Amino acid sequence: MRLDVVTIFPEYLEPLNVSLVGKARARGQLDVRIHDLREWAHDKHNTVDDTPYGGGPGMVMKPEPWGEALDEILASGDGEPVIVVPTPSGVPFTQQLAVELSVKPWLVFTPARYEGIDRRVIEEYGDRLDVREVSIGDYVLAGGEAPVLVMVEAVARLLPGVLGNAASHQDDSFAPGAMADLLEGPVYTKPPEWRGRGIPEVLLSGHHGKIARWRRDEAFRRTDRNRPDLIERADPAAFDKHDRAILAALGWSEGDDGRFGRTAEAVEE
Ligand code: ADE
Repeated sequence: MRLDVVTIFPEYLEPLNVSLVGKARARGQLDVRIHDLREWAHDKHNTVDDTPYGGGPGMVMKPEPWGEALDEILASGDGEPVIVVPTPSGVPFTQQLAVELSVKPWLVFTPARYEGIDRRVIEEYGDRLDVREVSIGDYVLAGGEAPVLVMVEAVARLLPGVLGNAASHQDDSFAPGAMADLLEGPVYTKPPEWRGRGIPEVLLSGHHGKIARWRRDEAFRRTDRNRPDLIERADPAAFDKHDRAILAALGWSEGDDGRFGRTAEAVEE
């Protein structure tokens, strides 16, 4: 997979040389190219921003440097990339979107600073390419570079051969499959006792069926505690008899619409 990032802070993307993404680069699984937007600015101060039309606080990134940068990058490769524009006004970045992006051969990220990029740039490329405006969460950062690091890591670990153990992401929270809609439960490793705390007995039993059931129960407990909205949204067709029993014990019941909701008593607690 080829990844291009256009930024005014190339050094902000240094973490892409480290750990999982860095190793994938070194192995040739990822071709990462970081570009300094200011190389496409032409005045002596390398200006890339200007005041917003209509007034208001902050500065807006000028269209010309972005246009020249993107034209040059697009001309340097085969085929068409997906352009990912990080912005708090975008669609939420989810595991599903990470999976979708992970099968694309080429992604171009355009992290902005200031109040964002002149709208015409998004329109210009959106008319002929797949352009995604994406937010990593409901908070505002000073720029899109940290979101690029987040998205690249989420995408890169899904590439074939990047994670050591190919099965490792099947049980991820938010991954499609049997554990979809549930958060991952707790995990343990050696030593068997640490500061007087042991390991749940079932994990030492060697009984795979019981272990799977315990993990699923823990996933329900954690999702109930931290993300009840996921249970409310879940398709109950995915819930078996045991799931329904644990949900009932946690104070959930199936509503007329077939979805699960918290019983009044559970909500009051
Ligand atoms: N730029 C600033 N805040 C952002 C966010 N939450 N997601 C993506 N890009 C951003």
